[in-house]
Amino acid sequence: MAISRRTLLRNIGATAAVTATAQSWPTICLASSTTGDRSDPASRMIRLDKNENPYGPSDHVAAAMRSGMAIANRFPEAELAALIDRLAEFHSVHREQIILGCGSTEILRMCSCAFLGPGKKLAMATPGFDAMAQYARETGASVEMVPLTKTYAHDLALMAQRLGGGNGLIYICNPHNPTGTLTARKDIEALLRGLPAGTYVVIDEAYYHYVTPSAAYSSFIDHPVSDPRVIVTRTFSKIYGLAGMRIGYSVATAETAKRIAAYRLLDGVNVGAARAARIALEDNDHVRTCAQRNADNRQEFFNQANARMLRWIDSQTNFVLLNAGRSANDVAEHFRKNHVLLGSGFRSMENYLRVTVGTPEEMKEFWRVWDLLPQHAMAM
Ligand SMILES: Cc1ncc(COP(=O)(O)O)c(C=O)c1O
Repeated sequence: MAISRRTLLRNIGATAAVTATAQSWPTICLASSTTGDRSDPASRMIRLDKNENPYGPSDHVAAAMRSGMAIANRFPEAELAALIDRLAEFHSVHREQIILGCGSTEILRMCSCAFLGPGKKLAMATPGFDAMAQYARETGASVEMVPLTKTYAHDLALMAQRLGGGNGLIYICNPHNPTGTLTARKDIEALLRGLPAGTYVVIDEAYYHYVTPSAAYSSFIDHPVSDPRVIVTRTFSKIYGLAGMRIGYSVATAETAKRIAAYRLLDGVNVGAARAARIALEDNDHVRTCAQRNADNRQEFFNQANARMLRWIDSQTNFVLLNAGRSANDVAEHFRKNHVLLGSGFRSMENYLRVTVGTPEEMKEFWRVWDLLPQHAMAM
């Protein structure tokens, strides 16, 4: 077939472009690793929308991840087993009680598959962490969204009532997302006393490490109830600074853990994440430092909000719900245009922005952008 001069030139151009792209790969990789992700448009944004730890993992954990990459050609069984052993020791439970997940959200999905299905119900708080509702619906279960109490705690009595005595699942996020508030342990214990045997309770402790210790709040792992209906989930995405690695776990009785594990992806957690998580568990200093920095930065956020006569909900986490005084979606859009991402669109709390507590520099930028809002927007 005759090739026209134009086609020939176009083909040469395409080949040249492919060659140039291939040749520039090392340069691009080098640039993105040495200039702090400048090639990634998302990195130009200040991310105060997903409750991540702005300080990232500790140096020990970063080194562990690099060493994990050196064995990336191997399947992760040995690392997973080492992590499970470490977690069991860490929480003083048996290894059969631990399930690992690709993030704790994977555990929520596994629990939905194990304990829900057509004819069953999930009861959870609204506004709440909606991933759980989505997983429940995918099993064919119905979802009862139960409003929080006036103090933004879970209305446990109403949640139990909405299940109507049938089998199902109650999801308690403690501390709660998006309000940052606590549900007292004694109230959860009272709930358990009244629940039928076939109703399971997932207690999501993703933000556990940020809570100021008090008599009213304590983890359900640290004081095991050995109740086969209770599943406690934790994540490495928050205080440990490993959100991008996707790793979390649950603790339950061995019998319940076995039912959950039936829906696990075989080797679903990668070797780098497992090694990073194991080392992160040793890093008490990093956890303490991050919790303290978060508490200081959060206090400064409250001070700044008070200075502007704004209303906010007292938080035990690394985020704060701030009353924006008008549609939070509109305010979030203003922030997005100014390169700051925020959470908004919470059911029945449409005027509330969820602001992740970032570094002092990030929070200064937050308030600079806030002060650009038209004055009327701040009228309460
Ligand atoms: C309440 C709650 N649970 C779980 C998660 C997700 O955890 P993971 O990253 O381990 O899936 C989040 C993340 O924002 C969360 O807010």
